[in-house]
This record gives sequence, C-alpha cells and structure tokens, in this order.
Amino acid sequence: MNRYYLQVYGCQMNQYDAGLVRALLDDAGYIETEVEDEADCCLVLTCAVRSHAENRALGRLGSLRAGARRKPGRVVAMLGCLSEPVRATLVEAHTADVILGPDEYRQLPAALAAARGASQESVATGSRNDRESYTGIRARFTGGVRGSVTVMRGCDNWCSYCIVPLTRGRERSRPPADIIDEARALTDNGVLDLTLLGQNVLAYRYEGTDFAGLLEGVAGIPGLKRLRFLTSHPKDLDERIIRTMADIPLVCPDLHLPFQSGSDRVLELMNRRYTRAEYLARVETARSLVPDLGLTTDVLVGFPGENDEDFLATLDLVRQLRFDAAYMFRYSVRPGTAAEKLGPKVSEAEAGTRLSRLIELQNRITRERNLELIGREFELLIEAPAPRGQAMLGRTRNNHTVVVDEETPVGTFANVRVTSLRGWTPVGQVLCETRGAPGESRSPCSCQPGPALGVNDVSCDPANRQGSCSCESCSCPSAIGSFKMEE
Ligand code: SAH
Ligand code: SF4
Ligand code: F3S
Repeated sequence: MNRYYLQVYGCQMNQYDAGLVRALLDDAGYIETEVEDEADCCLVLTCAVRSHAENRALGRLGSLRAGARRKPGRVVAMLGCLSEPVRATLVEAHTADVILGPDEYRQLPAALAAARGASQESVATGSRNDRESYTGIRARFTGGVRGSVTVMRGCDNWCSYCIVPLTRGRERSRPPADIIDEARALTDNGVLDLTLLGQNVLAYRYEGTDFAGLLEGVAGIPGLKRLRFLTSHPKDLDERIIRTMADIPLVCPDLHLPFQSGSDRVLELMNRRYTRAEYLARVETARSLVPDLGLTTDVLVGFPGENDEDFLATLDLVRQLRFDAAYMFRYSVRPGTAAEKLGPKVSEAEAGTRLSRLIELQNRITRERNLELIGREFELLIEAPAPRGQAMLGRTRNNHTVVVDEETPVGTFANVRVTSLRGWTPVGQVLCETRGAPGESRSPCSCQPGPALGVNDVSCDPANRQGSCSCESCSCPSAIGSFKMEE
C-alpha cells in the first residue's frame, strides 16, 4: 500500500500547491493518511520567507526522519520553497530522500519511486522551470465553502528583502480558460466564496486578458457568490482595477495591500516602487470608490538602515489609515536577496521593540474598529464550527470573521447584527438566513438580504485551519481574534 503523509507550511500558494501534490499522488495510486506512522512517504511543503519559517519546517523534517529510521523503507520528501544554501545542505547531507521545488512537482511520483528503490542519494533536480503552470492538473479540493485558485505563479518584483522570486521563479499567468474551468469545478463542488491567488495578482496578463478581464470572466460562473483576490501590489493598483472591484457585485470589498514601510527612504531600499504619498492616494481612491472596503496590509520592521524616524513614519501611516488588520513581521535576512548586503543592520533587540510597538498600536486600532461594528448588520457566510464551544464562524463580504451562537449550517448566508465582542471577535445575532443564495430568504424576516456591510476583521483564520496546519494564520496565540504576527 502506498500511503503518504503531507505537512504544509507557508502561504496560501503553498496550501494550493498541496492540492496539486495530492492530485499528482492520487493519480500515481497513492492514498493520503493523516497518521504519520502509517505513511510510506512523508512529505513537507516548506516556506522560506523568514528564517523562522524555514527552521520550523527543517525541525519537522528532522522528526519525520527520526520516524523513518524506525520504519525501514519510508521515504521523506522536502518540497516547496527552500533557500539555496539549505537546499544544497539537504542534498549534500542526504537529509531528505527527495527534494523538489514549487515548479518540479510533476516529477514527484517518479522521484518517490526512485527513492523507494533504495537510492543512496537524494533525488533532487536542482533545475527551476519558469514556464510550469501545471496545465492539465486539477488541484485536489479538500472541501468547504471557501476555495482558491492560483492564477499566476512566480514573482518578478524583486523586493530586496524577499526570497520568493528566488524560490518560485519568474512570473507567469495561467490561461483564463483553465482558471475559469477550475473555478467552475470548485463551485460545482460547493465553493461559494472563491479567492484568486498570486504573489501580485494585479500583474495578471495572459494574451489579451488582464486582471480586470479575468475577474469579469470568473464572476460569470453560475453559483459563485463571492470573489476575492490576494495579493495586490500597490504599484499596480490603478483606478481601473478599483472601479472593476466596485462594479462587479460578486467581487468583495476586500483588499489586502501590503505597504511594508511608511518611509520613502526605506521603500526605495526595499525596491517597492511606490512612495508613501502614492500608497495613501491609492487607498483613498479605493476607499472612496468601494463602499465599506475591508483593508488589510503587511508591515515589515527592522529592515537594514531603518532608523527611528523611518519607524515613526510607519507608525504614523498605521495610525492614519486605521487598517482593519495587519500582518506584522520583523525583518529576517534571506540568503541570495539584495538586502542581504545592505546595512547598517538593525539589532534584533531594537527590531523586537519596534515590532512590539507596532503590534500594540494596530491591536488598539483593531479593537476600536471591532467595537464600531456593534449594532451594524452584515451578510455572513457560515463557514465552519468555531474551534471552541457550540458557536459557528462566518465571514462578511469584507472579510471579517463573526461568531454566531445559533445552530446555523455551513453554507448558509445569514444576515446578522453584531451585538458584542468575544475576545477580539465580533459576535452576531442571526436576523434571517438564506441558503446558498443571498437574496432568497428562507425564514420570514423583515431585513433585506443583500451585499453585506462590514468593517473589521482579524487576520487569524480558524475556519480555514487544517488538521496539522501550522501556517502563520493558525499559529497565532489564540485561535480566534488575534493577529497573525511574527511567529
Ligand atoms: N507577494 C506578496 C506576499 C509576499 S510574502 C506580497 O508582496 O505582498 C508575505 C509578506 O512577508 C510580505 O508582504 C512581507 O511583509 C513579509 N516578508 C517577506 N520577506 C520577508 C523577510 N525577509 N523578512 C520578514 N518578512 C518578510
Ligand atoms: Fe516578495 Fe515583493 Fe514578490 Fe511579494 S511582490 S513575493 S514581497 S518580491
Ligand atoms: Fe509562500 Fe513561503 Fe514560498 S510565503 S511563496 S511558501 S517562501
């Protein structure tokens, strides 16, 4: 029997890639198990974006190898994003039997078979394939009312701190017809809320289709109720795309727009290719054209050369824009990136102090914004039981998680009024429910189902938690309502 155990780290692109890996292994006759001890092959999908993430995956690899020693014949594979020195060390020391990057998964079944043939060396191709878009492979969907489709792979932005262009190669867009087919299949399988994924989706272009055209195409899929996208680079956020967001009713008022730093000097060192003033202007346009826009961001502190004044400019921007939530990170030097050579370095202690100050500020803002939700009404899509207690978790169109205490089946659209906060999370009272389709009220009620109005959310996404998932969203200190932050 060929059983495999798969552990996934990292971002949503990796979560999506896990579906590709599953599809490839299913086709090769493998069966997934959630019990590590049962597995003939153990696979880790790694993330290298910060050294902590990479070390965590390496730690897991170590424990899987220890298990493999107890079970002769078991193969251990390291997949996903790896920094080059780590990859070289793994190959040299044969720490993993199979080592394949994000564009090499087609070779996985053959590599596992070769490794199971008692190879004395690691099977690693070492070659990147910048044209791979996995055409013809349909990522295996593991269920739920939310789904995602990768629309482009790689990244050409070369932010100076970031390892992604090195691990995921050149930017390439998938054909719109493939994306729409995949999205339609997900919708047929019960997905109501779909996210289009890419490192910078606004740069999507395939022949004559740009991202606005893709949104229009996907929004035409019958049965799909909500459409989102991740991630948007501020330099590519023009008024046309904002108007498309506002004009297509299915597209949710939900924008994740990382700003990274509030200082023009640091933004330039980061090679972000926008200024603070441009970022502010784009947010102003988005907020004025898209009613009740949910706005989240990524912020990085302790970048080489960041001084007190730069950091204060970051705090000031956070104060000024009052994001709904922020993913906040301490800079981590990554091998092979341009910033590796930049100085002066900010000490770990100083970077830690800055991160704490930033988190404290954003936490206060999020709490204030959550309090402002009380008394307001939202359309909620019920996604999953809450991790603790009897409650259910739902999401507003602008990406806020709300808890409801009533028995409300997954897949229900419920109109709720927020009555209080539980910890950080808004608690809603159901006013009426509509199954599967907003606008079709199931129980008699006087409220008007329709596009929801929501203001706030928290970044932690317990509804999306997978059994063994340790992605950053799920590793936050409390399951509901805390920020995703430095692990
Ligand atoms: N393509 C997306 C996601 C990139 S990775 C984007 O550009 O937004 C997600 C976040 O990780 C980044 O936005 C950045 O804030 C953070 N990050 C990337 N490299 C990092 C590094 N070397 N150290 C700390 N944080 C980093
Ligand atoms: Fe990294 Fe920048 Fe590309 Fe995002 S846009 S993946 S931060 S290089
Ligand atoms: Fe994602 Fe981590 Fe790779 S953030 S792109 S899995 S380096």
